Amino acid sequence: MTSSISFYEEKQIFKLDTSGSSYIFGVDKGGYLTHYYYGARIADHDVSYLGVREGHDSSVPLSADVDDWRFSPDTVAMEYPCFGTGDYRISALEIKDANGHNSTDFRYRSHKIVAGKKPIPGMPSAFAAEDEAETLELVGTDITGAEVTLYYTVFKSHPVITRRVSVKNASNKPMFLERVYSACVDFTHPEFDMLGLWGCWGRERKVERNKLAHGITSFSSVRGASGHYHNPFAALLAPETTEEHGDAYGFNVVYSGNYAITAEVDAFGLTRIICGLNHEGFEWKLDAGEEFYTPETVLVYSAEGLGGMSRALHRFYREHLINQRWARAPRPVLVNNWEATYFAFDDEKLVSIAKDAAELGIDMLVMDDGWFGKRNDDRSSLGDWNTNEEKLKGGLPSLVSRVNEAGVDFGIWFEPEMASRDSELYRRHPEWILHTEGRKPSIARHQYVLDLTRQDVCDYIYDSIASALNSANIKYIKWDFNRNLTEVASASLPSDRQGEVGHRYVLGLYSILERLTHDFPNVLLEGCSSGGGRYDPALLYYFPQYWTSDDTDPIERLNIQYGTSMAYPASTMSCHVSASPNHQTGRRTSFETRGNVAFAGTFGYELDLNKLTEHERELVREQVSMYKKYSHIVNNGDLYRLIPPTEDVTAWEYVSEDGSEALVTFVAINARIAPVYFLHLRGLDPDAVYVDNFGRRFFGSTLMNAGLNMTRGWHDAESTVIYFKKEG
Ligand code: DGJ
Repeated sequence: MTSSISFYEEKQIFKLDTSGSSYIFGVDKGGYLTHYYYGARIADHDVSYLGVREGHDSSVPLSADVDDWRFSPDTVAMEYPCFGTGDYRISALEIKDANGHNSTDFRYRSHKIVAGKKPIPGMPSAFAAEDEAETLELVGTDITGAEVTLYYTVFKSHPVITRRVSVKNASNKPMFLERVYSACVDFTHPEFDMLGLWGCWGRERKVERNKLAHGITSFSSVRGASGHYHNPFAALLAPETTEEHGDAYGFNVVYSGNYAITAEVDAFGLTRIICGLNHEGFEWKLDAGEEFYTPETVLVYSAEGLGGMSRALHRFYREHLINQRWARAPRPVLVNNWEATYFAFDDEKLVSIAKDAAELGIDMLVMDDGWFGKRNDDRSSLGDWNTNEEKLKGGLPSLVSRVNEAGVDFGIWFEPEMASRDSELYRRHPEWILHTEGRKPSIARHQYVLDLTRQDVCDYIYDSIASALNSANIKYIKWDFNRNLTEVASASLPSDRQGEVGHRYVLGLYSILERLTHDFPNVLLEGCSSGGGRYDPALLYYFPQYWTSDDTDPIERLNIQYGTSMAYPASTMSCHVSASPNHQTGRRTSFETRGNVAFAGTFGYELDLNKLTEHERELVREQVSMYKKYSHIVNNGDLYRLIPPTEDVTAWEYVSEDGSEALVTFVAINARIAPVYFLHLRGLDPDAVYVDNFGRRFFGSTLMNAGLNMTRGWHDAESTVIYFKKEG
C-alpha cells in the first residue's frame, strides 16, 4: 500500500496514510485542530466522532470562540495543544509575549501538501527524494503574532511519519519560546504500556515496560546530551502486545541534547504523548522576523508487535537517516587499542598490533585516547590536539604510513567537545568553556565542556580535526564525549539568551559535524560517549556506527544489544571482541562466544593482538572471514528477536532483505540440567527449502513452525551461530 496525504475539504479532515497506518485529524470549530485517530490503516476519513469528549463540570473551561459545552480544549483530543488557555494537560507550545504573558492559543490558518521533504536548517533529520515522500505543511497563528508551522512527512514505503514544528515571529516585538515540542499525539483509545530504554555507563538501554497509570510519565534529559540514562526513544504498546503481535507505536526524537518524551493519561480515557526538545531550562528569544526550528520526531506504527516496530525503524533509518555513503557499505573490521594498552602505548606498540592485524585479516587499527598533548592518563591535554612525539616519533604522518605499510588502514580517537583543566587550550582560553560568571565550573573526568555556542570554538574544533585528517591517511574517527554539561551558560550571549545555550550547543555540534562530513566524505565516523551515551538518531545521521557500550562482556552485551535493537539497526552497533577475563566484569567466556555476540553489529577487536595464542589467532582469522561473509545479512537484513535475554538462553535471527539467507545466534546464558530448547525461526519463505551450514535441509515452514531442536547440555555462556541459505 502506498502512502499519501489527503485533505477532505468538506469535512476539513487531514488523512495521512503510510504503508501500515492512518493518522487523522481535522480543523474543528473555531479553527482548533483536533485529533481523531492514529493506528492501523483504515479506509474511512471521517472518524471525528472518536475525538469527542463532553465537558463535565465548571473545572473544565470552554473556549470563548466555540462556547459549546461539548467542546472544551481540556477534554477533546487536540492536535497540537497550547499552554494556558484551557487545556490543563501537558502542552506542546508555550510562547511568552513582549508583555510577559504566556497564554498561547494556536489556530489553523492554511496548509499545503508538497512532494518530498525539506531538511531542517542547522539540524539533522530524515531525508527523502521528491518521489519518496510527501509533506503536509500546516500553518496556524496565535494573537502574539507567532506563525506556527506543523510539518508532517509520510514516506512512500515505510509505516513512518516524521513531525517537526517551526515558529516564526511575524510581529514587530520580540517573543520568547518557552516550549515547542515536535509532536503531540492524543490517543483516543485508552490503555497503554510504555516501554523505555534506561541505563547508565556500562549498562545502556535496558528495556523496561510498565503500564501507564493516570498522571504523567516522562523519559527525558537535562544533561545537555541525550545521555546514558534514558534514550530518546519510547514505545506505547497495547497491553496484549508481544514481540511479534499487537499494536506498537515507537517515538524517537532525532536530537542529541535535552529532550523529553512525556505521556499523560487523563481522567477521560485519553493518552497524550508529547515529544521533542525538553522545555526544562529552555527559553528562546525570537526577535521580529526570526524563525525557530524544532528537531524532528519519528513516529512508527506496527501491528506486528515490538519486532515489527523495530524492523520498520531499522529499515527506515537505513534508507532515510544514515549517511548513504555508509548505510549499506561493508564496514571495516577494527582493532582498537583502548583495552589493549589504555594510555600506555607508543608507535612501536601500535605498529606491532597493526602487523598482527594485517596477518589476521583485520582492516584497520584505531588509535584510541592518549596520543596528543602530554596525555598519559585522563587528567590532561584534551583540547591540545598536537601529537605527543615522545610517544609517537615522527608524529601522525610517520605512524600512519608505518601502519599502512604493515597492511591496515588507520583510525584515530578525538574528544573534540572538551578541554582538560590541565590543558594549554584552557589556560589560553578560560572563557571558551561553559560556565557562569563567579561560580567555579563543575569538573568531571578532570575536564570541562567547551562552549559550542561560539563560532570561534567550533572553528577551533573543526580546524584541529581537519588538520589531523589533512596530515595523514586517516580513514576513521572515533568521536568521544565523556561528560555532560553543567553551568550551561555562555560568556558570548546576552542575559536574555542564556536559556538558548543548551540548544545552541547542540546546533554548534551539528555544524561541526556537517562541515566535517561534507569536507571529508570518505572518513568513517564512529560515535562514542563513555560507551553508548548519546546514542541517538541525530548522531546516527553523522555517525553510521556507535560504540555501543564500554561493557564488552558478551553476557552483559546481550542485554545492551537487545535494548539498542529496539530502535537502532545492527549496522549502527559497534561490537568488539575483548579479552577474557573481561576488564569490566571479570567474567571468563570463550573466544567463540565473544565473537558470536559481537557479530550482531559492526565487528572488531578491543584487545592486544600481540598477546593471542596460536589457537586464538586461528579463531580471529575464522571470525573475521565469517563476519565478512555474513555481515550483509546482519547489517542490511531484518532482525527477529527469537528469545529475549531475560531467559536462560537467548536467540536472535537476521534474515537478508530478499529472504534467501538467515543467520541465527543462540547463546546459553545460564546452564541448566536437562533443558529442552526449541527455536522457531521467523521471516523465511515458508515454501522454500533452506540448507544450513551442517548440510541439513528444512522447508521454511518447518523452521518457523516446528522449529529447530536446540536441546543439549549447554554450558554457561556457550553459543552457536547457524547459517541458512535458500536452495535454488
Ligand atoms: C570512553 C570510551 O567509551 C572508551 O572506549 C575509550 O575511548 C575511552 N573513553 C578513552 O578515554
